[in-house]
Amino acid sequence: MNFKVKKGKGVRGEITIPGDKSISHRSIMCASLSEGKSKIYGFLEGEDCLATKLAFKDMGINFETSNDGIIVHGSGLYGLKEPKKEINLGNSGTSIRLLSGILSAQNFSSTLVGDESLSSRPMNRIIEPLSLMGANIKSQNSGRPPLEINKSDMLNSINYDLPIASAQVKSCILFASLYSEGKTIVKERQITRNHTEIMFEQFGVPLSIRDTDDGRSIEMHPRSNLKGTEIDIPGDFSSAAFFILAALIIPNSNLTIKNVGMNETRTALLNAFQEMGAEIEIFNKTAEFEPRADLKVKFSKLKGINLDAKLVPNLIDELPSFFVAAAMSSGSTAVRDAEELRHKESDRLEAMGNVLRSLGVDLNMHQDGMDIHGLDQHRALSCYTGGIIESFGDHRIAMSSAIACSLFDHESLILNTDNVNTSFPTFLKIANQVGLNISLEEHS
Ligand code: S3P
Repeated sequence: MNFKVKKGKGVRGEITIPGDKSISHRSIMCASLSEGKSKIYGFLEGEDCLATKLAFKDMGINFETSNDGIIVHGSGLYGLKEPKKEINLGNSGTSIRLLSGILSAQNFSSTLVGDESLSSRPMNRIIEPLSLMGANIKSQNSGRPPLEINKSDMLNSINYDLPIASAQVKSCILFASLYSEGKTIVKERQITRNHTEIMFEQFGVPLSIRDTDDGRSIEMHPRSNLKGTEIDIPGDFSSAAFFILAALIIPNSNLTIKNVGMNETRTALLNAFQEMGAEIEIFNKTAEFEPRADLKVKFSKLKGINLDAKLVPNLIDELPSFFVAAAMSSGSTAVRDAEELRHKESDRLEAMGNVLRSLGVDLNMHQDGMDIHGLDQHRALSCYTGGIIESFGDHRIAMSSAIACSLFDHESLILNTDNVNTSFPTFLKIANQVGLNISLEEHS
C-alpha cells in the first residue's frame, strides 16, 4: 500500500501512543523464560513484537489474552521446546538478535530467518560474542540471516567491550549469560537503551551496573532464574516522535501525548529539539519500572544545531524525524557519528537524503551523517513541495515522510508503506484523529 498525503491542519487534542516496541519484545522473552505466570499490560500488537510472540508459541509457550493484557505461562530457563520449523522473524532485528542469545544455549538446534530487509542486516556483531561464549552459531549468508544455531548445553562467561553502540548486541549477550557459568561483564562506551537491564531486575535477576569514567559496565551473576511478574509497558517514545515532530512543524499545533516512555536512554530527541527552540512541556512524570510522562508540544520556531554525537545512540531511531525538523529550521544542522543508520531496516541516511532532496531540501551527505541547510517555516513552505516519495519499505522513513508532506498544498504519495504495521499499526488512525489527512491507496 501507499500513503496519500494531503495538507494537514495543525495537530491538536490528546492522544495515547501504543506500547513500546523494545520493551514489548523483552517482556515476551523474559516472561517466557520465567518460572510461573506473568501478566503484560500495554503490549504492542505490531508485526515485529508478534513475530517474537509467535516464536515463543512455536517453542511451547502458552499465552492467554484477557481484556486488559496478556498472560504468559513461563517455562523456566530450560523449558523451551524444539520448534517444528524454522523461526521466521519477519522484519525484526531486535527479535533475531536477542533470540539468538537465548537459542544459543538450548538443547535443540534452530534456524532463524527473516524478510528481505532482515536478510541483508549484519549479524557478525552477535555471532562474534556468542561464539566467544562457546555458542555454535553460523550465518548461511556471509554474516547475514538465515542463522543456524546448533544445540549447546552450557555457555562460557565473557568479559566483552561492545565495539559498536548497540543495545541489541548488549541484550543478546545478557540473555545468553543467563545460561553461562561464571560472571559475564559487558562494557559499553556509549550508553545504549537499558530496557533489558530494567526488565531483568523486574524479573528478579541480580545484576550489577556500574558507571565508569569511560562508560558503563553491566555484570551478570551466573545462572539466575527469572520469576514471573507483572509488566506495564509505557507508550513508545519512538512512535510519539512522529507526533512531536508534527506538532513542532505544522502551524497552529498544540498536542498532548499521554503516557510516553521517558527512559532517558531513549529521549535524547527531546534534548535536541529543546536546543533547537522547541516548546515541549513534560508533566505527570513517574519514576516506576520504566519511567513515563505526558508531553505537551506546540508549534515552534526552530533553529539548526550541531547535534552532539553523544546523543546519537539515544535518538538513533528518531533521526528520520530529526532530519525533517532540521529541514524546517533556520540555519544548518550537522549530524555525525550516525553510520549505524546505514544498517537499519533500510540505509536510513541514504533514504532520508532521498526523501529530503525530493522535497527540495539542500543537504550534503557524509558516510556517517549529513548537513541539512534548513529554511525557516515561512521560506520552507514556499520553497519545498510534496511529491512522490520512496519509503524503501522502512516504517520510520514512511512515517516521518508522511508528517513532512502534511505541510504542503501539493498532494504527496509515499510508496511502499505496509511496513508501518511492524511498529505502529494505528499510525493512520491517530494521524487523522489529530488533524492530518493521510489515507491508504493500493500500490499500482
Ligand atoms: C533496539 C535497539 C536499537 C534500535 C532498534 C531497537 C532494541 O538497535 O535501533 O530499533 O530494542 O534493542 P541497535 O541496538 O542495533 O542500535
